[in-house]
Amino acid sequence: MNSLWVFLFTIFVYTVVKTKEELNNRPIIGILTQEISYYLNETYPNQYHSYIAASYVKFVEGAGARAVPIWIGGNTLYYENILSKINGILWPGGSTYFSQKKGYADAGAKIYRIVKRINEEGQYFPIFGICLGFELLTYVAANRVAHTKPCSSNNQPLPLEFTRDYRESKLFKNAPLNVLRILSEQNVTANYHHLCVTKKALHNVDLTDEFHVLSLNHDENGLEFISTLEHKQFPFYGLQFHPEKNLYEWVIGKRIPHSINATIVSQYFANFFINEARKNFNEFGEQEEQRSLIYNYPVTYTALKKSSFQQCYMFKKSDRNNFF
Ligand SMILES: *[C@@H]1O[C@H](CO)[C@@H](O)[C@H](O)[C@H]1NC(C)=O
Ligand SMILES: *[C@@H]1O[C@H](CO)[C@@H](O)[C@H](O)[C@H]1NC(C)=O
Ligand SMILES: *[C@@H]1O[C@H](CO)[C@@H](O)[C@H](O)[C@H]1NC(C)=O
Repeated sequence: MNSLWVFLFTIFVYTVVKTKEELNNRPIIGILTQEISYYLNETYPNQYHSYIAASYVKFVEGAGARAVPIWIGGNTLYYENILSKINGILWPGGSTYFSQKKGYADAGAKIYRIVKRINEEGQYFPIFGICLGFELLTYVAANRVAHTKPCSSNNQPLPLEFTRDYRESKLFKNAPLNVLRILSEQNVTANYHHLCVTKKALHNVDLTDEFHVLSLNHDENGLEFISTLEHKQFPFYGLQFHPEKNLYEWVIGKRIPHSINATIVSQYFANFFINEARKNFNEFGEQEEQRSLIYNYPVTYTALKKSSFQQCYMFKKSDRNNFF
């Protein structure tokens, strides 16, 4: 009898420990598309409806994940469905307006509501917002209230000014010391934004109730802005700068940091995000996975036509037809 209990207990402990340590080593990230940019629409007249700069796809691929485009203009059912099959979501940078109907921000608001609920129900589901995607995170978290003001931080490589307790964050608590040293001392974060999210409560919504501000920076005129934050309760992260540009964007005349150290810190952020997504176990059926992956779409060498992106995935409106 005794040995039976020991046996059962051993099985129990093994199961609990094993389940706890298990990670999803086939993570798939949804990358939100956005309205075709003014520039791309001028360059490829009237051909495309939405796009993703390929650097964001490479960013997740370089850390061991695959990418699926998430369409703008879907209804709640579409987002519920796709979010039950992927392991995390990336909101890329760009230049669209949050006021456009059925666009990037409308999709972001729907996605945020669903992902928040998923996390409340106990599933681990990360959101990672970069630049405009970071602004989107603060915007939808505050029920579509913008925390941005116009500022001057376009083409400004900066070191992060960490806040006092930033090491208590998930984003930085396990970061290697050399990564933190590089981030805090060297001009390795690529800033390309005309709007800044500021700490001061705007419209009576205080971001710091919900978010832990991890670093600040100052624009060319000394205006203080938030450069990294994370949600206090959920695995939601925002970076105002562009880690993917250090690795994958090469336009001449922009001050994109490409040093070894700039590369190291960008890879840190990519690995961090994808490792968060490994804690989620959603999956597609095999056929649906194949139909959904970004490999189904061509990528265009847009830098040849003076785009600031080396390559873009550009989508026709009809590309969505099989999905909604
Ligand atoms: C693209 O440009 C054309 C004019 O060439 C315009 O009619 C159309 O609305 C634009 N589309 C988008 C999505 O901006
Ligand atoms: C890279 O960062 C380290 C600090 O971790 C520093 O000692 C080294 O000089 C930096 N290298 C370059 C080329 O800037
Ligand atoms: C970072 O850039 C600023 C502004 O261009 C410059 O003054 C500063 O010396 C640079 N810092 C480092 C560590 O290179």
